[in-house]
Amino acid sequence: MACQLLNGKKGIIFGALDSKSIAWKIAEKAYEQGAAFTLSNTPAALRFGEIKVLSEKCHAEIIPADATSVSDLVNVFQRTMEIFGGKIDFVLHSIGMSMNVRKYREYDDLDYNYFMKTIDVSALSFHKMLQVAKKMDAINDWGSILALTYIAAQRTLVGYNDMADAKSLLESIARSFGYIYGREKNVRINTISQSPTKTTAGSAIKGMDGLVDFTDRMSPLGNATAEECADFSVVLFSDLSRKVTMQNIYHDGGFSSMAMSLKAMTQYNKSLDEES
Ligand SMILES: NC(=O)c1ccc[n+]([C@@H]2O[C@H](COP(=O)([O-])OP(=O)(O)OC[C@H]3O[C@@H](n4cnc5c(N)ncnc54)[C@H](O)[C@@H]3O)[C@@H](O)[C@H]2O)c1
Repeated sequence: MACQLLNGKKGIIFGALDSKSIAWKIAEKAYEQGAAFTLSNTPAALRFGEIKVLSEKCHAEIIPADATSVSDLVNVFQRTMEIFGGKIDFVLHSIGMSMNVRKYREYDDLDYNYFMKTIDVSALSFHKMLQVAKKMDAINDWGSILALTYIAAQRTLVGYNDMADAKSLLESIARSFGYIYGREKNVRINTISQSPTKTTAGSAIKGMDGLVDFTDRMSPLGNATAEECADFSVVLFSDLSRKVTMQNIYHDGGFSSMAMSLKAMTQYNKSLDEES
């Protein structure tokens, strides 16, 4: 691609697991657009080995970290600044996990140890990342930090379980920290609320296939793919979005503004015909 929106920009991408991961697609597009970055994921995720393919493709060093561990995060930022010889420009938080979802615990029968883990991995890790970055003064002026979220933070969707609570907190952290980081360092923080996407984390959600079909029928532009999310992320990392901060931005083909579409109504009516 000819344009190099991220030429000279340096960053960290957390959460690329395999080639289906949204973070993976963002890493590929950021690289295409001239960015240099490090990759980070848990030691367990690194053992699967796929991230090495991405690392070679993007010439990006992999730095293991459990994002719930402040000392691991300090190490990721320290090592990244060593590699690039100074401050960086962007960070992607693309991390989510719920043991309650994985173990099929219903929302009115949650395991509270799992719940605390969901909150820690999927939301508090974002605060930890931001706090570590700010204390280390790791981000350049007008740097951009992004986390990925889902509309279950605002609207109840069957099956999303305690991840809905984690996403609400994640989005709130983006606003609260966005104010302080913007005021003091001109660093911006946003969340992208992405369409349901068939990834490892996404596929853990009960009824994912039906949900993907439903949101596709409901959205005037159809579901947004992981590649399209990557394009949008590149714009948010770039200088073309310098005054955008503290926002939760829907990247969902219009789903968040719909209540009923012709396509969804047609499908619903068909099922009523079958019943009668
Ligand atoms: N797939 C969807 O439908 C969808 C929709 C909207 C938002 N999102 C969000 O996008 C983000 C990325 O998910 P994805 O769909 O690409 O799935 P994914 O499974 O590819 O990515 C999730 C990542 O989180 C990492 N992770 C889990 N625990 C961690 C920990 N303790 N420390 C560091 N990393 C950890 C995993 O190793 C994995 O790389 C998540 O925040 C997810 O909630 C996904």
